[in-house]
Amino acid sequence: MLKTHGCGELRAEHIGQSITLAGWVHRRRDHGGLIFIDLRDRSGIVQVVCNPEISAQAHQVASKCRSEFVLQIKGTVQARPQGLINPELPTGEIEVAAEAVTILNPAKTPPIYINIEDEVDEAVRLRYRYLDLRRQRMQRNIILRHRVVKFIRDYLDAQGFIEIETPILIKSTPEGARDYVVPSRVHPGKFYALPQSPQQLKQLLMVAGFEKYFQIARCFRDEDLRADRQPEFTQLDMEMSFVDQEDVLRITEDLFTALVRELEPETGKHLKESPFPRLSYEEAMARYGTDKPDLRYGLELVDVSDLVAECGFRVFTQTVAGGGQVKALVAPGCAAYSRRQVDELTGLVQKQGAQGLVTIAVQEGQLKSTVSKFLASGELEAIVERTKAGVGDLICIVADQPPVVARSLDALRREFAARLSLADPDELAFCWVLDFPLLEWNEEEGRWNAVHHPFTSAQDEDWALLESGDPGQAKAKAYDLVLNGWEVGGGSIRIHRRDLQALMFRTLGITPEQAQAQFGHMLEAFEYGAPPHGGIAPGIDRIVAILAGEPNIKEVIAFPKTQTAMDLMTQAPSEISPQQLAELHIRLATEE
Ligand code: AMO
Repeated sequence: MLKTHGCGELRAEHIGQSITLAGWVHRRRDHGGLIFIDLRDRSGIVQVVCNPEISAQAHQVASKCRSEFVLQIKGTVQARPQGLINPELPTGEIEVAAEAVTILNPAKTPPIYINIEDEVDEAVRLRYRYLDLRRQRMQRNIILRHRVVKFIRDYLDAQGFIEIETPILIKSTPEGARDYVVPSRVHPGKFYALPQSPQQLKQLLMVAGFEKYFQIARCFRDEDLRADRQPEFTQLDMEMSFVDQEDVLRITEDLFTALVRELEPETGKHLKESPFPRLSYEEAMARYGTDKPDLRYGLELVDVSDLVAECGFRVFTQTVAGGGQVKALVAPGCAAYSRRQVDELTGLVQKQGAQGLVTIAVQEGQLKSTVSKFLASGELEAIVERTKAGVGDLICIVADQPPVVARSLDALRREFAARLSLADPDELAFCWVLDFPLLEWNEEEGRWNAVHHPFTSAQDEDWALLESGDPGQAKAKAYDLVLNGWEVGGGSIRIHRRDLQALMFRTLGITPEQAQAQFGHMLEAFEYGAPPHGGIAPGIDRIVAILAGEPNIKEVIAFPKTQTAMDLMTQAPSEISPQQLAELHIRLATEE
């Protein structure tokens, strides 16, 4: 090694030792006689003093160094003079007296400050990602990610799981997004798809008798990107045989409970509760307006439809008569909101499709509301009583069809949580959302879609609904793991019988011929003794981002893509040569 110690490892116990360090110039200060270099490597930062009286060579070379030069420094560890001890720095009690300095490589002035945690333009960060990754925050995130994955591997190994790699060039697996495809040179006109997840393969590994499988699996989905979505991302993919839903929930919950506790000293984040609370999909939608509620705070939705079904406000009565809902949310301490502030909230719910927002400000001795003149005496009071609002609170009410009410109040709930700082950033509130519907109606195509994926089993008693023509009522053996308002995992108990899988495909409007062409291998495998099985796939990027306190999963991915799926560093995607296109039997439509 070009070094004997890491910069950040040196302590008072090393005083007097001759050492060799290698790293980057974090900062250089020229104090006339003395030059101070803060030398940085992955382990941390240490102060190096170049005193011409100790080494003229060291001082002379140091005088030429600039930020981010790569240096090798030989020297002796010494105590810092009294009064110059820096308690902020782990190495703050000591410094290194340089005896020889070698420039291993000079550096241009970097386009990003490495030594200041500054807001930097995202495009610059991604273009120079290797410099961005030098920054302390990014080093910490990527190292945390390593620890999470290492913990998971060791934990699952101890539980008897086997890590198995599955191919990246496969046949399309439907997970609801568009596929990334790869043209075949050898088979003109044919394409591989990159896996949206290893779903079918992990099920086939169960047919193959491995019983407990996992993989840190890369998945690819061509979909609209958001803070919690990248075109390629990583799942902890798991599958188990001879399990029911309860087993999968317990194994997953034990894993994440152990993981969070192990990393608590590093992340400073603690579990709100374990075992994780469980909500049915219906309950989550009713109480929070979303299937991924942030349970760090309350602000539950309250249905007041029955209280206003016959009141004098037509918006309410017509909504209820038309099968809609009138639901409320209490914002604590917001009764004094100005007209402008209420207008902002109205704008927020209108973005979710709501017509408007009705408010009731609960003030000392009176209720102030936009609809007081339409409601009979006692009706406003009944709403206040139902919502348990107190003096000083603002009741926000939306009347519309259930999906619009849910979206609007979910948005309001998150908005108030942010404005009122209701969510403890150091708390991890996991929960399970269960009993999802099996199918959802696809209005555009006039057919049913699988809510999770087409391999998910219906609940035992609900299979009959698929035959009896009421499949929309069927519930799935599917579950989501939710953390602080993010969906961090999804899974299900699978169909393992050929006849039920065929029924499922039929219900989805897939003809037997299409089923054979697309999924023939699955149907066939189920004829050779497929065990009952199920699994889950927690999203590694999302979990690490939450543990790192980052708002976007890009911050925990070494080389992420932009919102338009570009790699700004390598400039991918890019054109390929006419020869390559010809070899792949591809003619571009843009050229025609
Ligand atoms: P699902 O599609 O729910 O299930 O995905 C599982 C988890 O993967 C993460 N995730 C993503 N993370 C980052 N960027 C994305 N674009 C992205 N898409 C999904 C989420 C999500 O909860 N095969 C099934 C799992 C199973 O049934 O076992 C599947 O992929 O955290």
